[in-house]
Amino acid sequence: MNILVLGGGGREHAIAWALAKSPRTDSLYVAPGNGGTDGIAQNVPDLNPEDGQAVLAFVRENAIDFVVIGPEAPLVAGVADVLRAAGVPTFGPDAQGAQLEGSKTFSKKFMDANDIPTARYASFTDLEPALAYVRELGAPIVVKADGLAAGKGVVVADELEDAEDAVRSCFDGAFGDSGKTVLIEECLTGPECSMLAFVSDGKAHCMATAQDHKRAFDGDRGPNTGGMGAYSPVPIVTPDELAAMHDIMERAAVATAREFDNDYRGVLYGGFMLTPEGPKIIEFNARFGDPETQVVLPRLESDLADIMLAVAEGRPDDIDLRWSEQWAVCVVLASEGYPGSYEKGKVILGIDEAEQIEGVTVFHAGTAKNFDDELVTAGGRVLNVVALGDSFDDAREKAYEACDLINFEGKQYRSDIGKRAAAGRAAWEN
Ligand code: AMP
Ligand code: GLY
Repeated sequence: MNILVLGGGGREHAIAWALAKSPRTDSLYVAPGNGGTDGIAQNVPDLNPEDGQAVLAFVRENAIDFVVIGPEAPLVAGVADVLRAAGVPTFGPDAQGAQLEGSKTFSKKFMDANDIPTARYASFTDLEPALAYVRELGAPIVVKADGLAAGKGVVVADELEDAEDAVRSCFDGAFGDSGKTVLIEECLTGPECSMLAFVSDGKAHCMATAQDHKRAFDGDRGPNTGGMGAYSPVPIVTPDELAAMHDIMERAAVATAREFDNDYRGVLYGGFMLTPEGPKIIEFNARFGDPETQVVLPRLESDLADIMLAVAEGRPDDIDLRWSEQWAVCVVLASEGYPGSYEKGKVILGIDEAEQIEGVTVFHAGTAKNFDDELVTAGGRVLNVVALGDSFDDAREKAYEACDLINFEGKQYRSDIGKRAAAGRAAWEN
């Protein structure tokens, strides 16, 4: 098969890496791709992944058999709709299904209609009633811009004042159209855990659990980021919680087939909080998580191309997921200043040495080649250093050993990925 992957982050490098291992893959293209996909696939830097007609034209010109959509923006923009309407097998839901991620209000209504446990909420399009509701519920309380805001449209406010400021800033246009509708939610407590599932024809095949680290600095301090690291599996989840999470994902999958005009075909990402009353959904995403994918796919022993094609073609019974017993840890190396402003163009050294360590793979996120063909930084999150190990500690040690070997000016990373989970559930009881 000739396969086109849309996107250019660490997630897409991990997807392309797994697809490249498949005997079914002939030519592999990534649009736009990054400095890492360059080595295993053909990058298509000039193709805009959000332009459905342009993607379709590329598919026709290059005899592409199958398209995999990585990020949320092309899904919400309806690129899957255009491709499917033209008969191209596509991994990723239509625009309607992508609203599960694209609109938090839509997603909440979907959860309510299908008995999916989640935080209580109300949604507002005017300032005064929103402020009145915030004051009625009191802090701690959560304020969210309704639309896509690259993970930045959520404020968990411990003080009433902060919540009121957040509501005002949404309506003042801090998140553009995304903030024209504001959700106010009850604040849940507990560890967070992601469960991703391949969904097709109303059936969910759940993947291994993973946990992201959203805050910029050690000890879960500092601003929210796109994700500073992840690990899989999540050891603190009890068997009862795991069963409840599977059940929720399966029920959500059944509902996608019933509620959406076209069957949902892609990944449904359940962002869970393990509350004292059981697992509840904080959010659904309509795609693979980043950086969760970078720890989940290296543990997948089955052929990803087979799985994705079965999802795209509505053959969920042909999906067979087998997982390695190994642990995976991913540490994100970021540019100095991220998630604020940062410089680009710093030369990156040491990746080959790092990958000499058994079980270590480096997925690129923001990298590019300069005019001298040197690998340089080109984004806030630069590299995902992933290690597989026979125990959690083994994987963590190898990941950090590899991080030490890689250098670029301003390299910053969290030194505590997985540390809290390794200490056990009690680490959350405070
Ligand atoms: P979201 O973009 O909806 O995933 O929210 C980003 C982060 O905000 C989540 O990963 C949680 O850490 C936090 N968060 C969101 N909703 C809630 C909630 N209802 N209660 C507590 N924390 C939340
Ligand atoms: N890791 C969080 C996300 O992909 O949304």
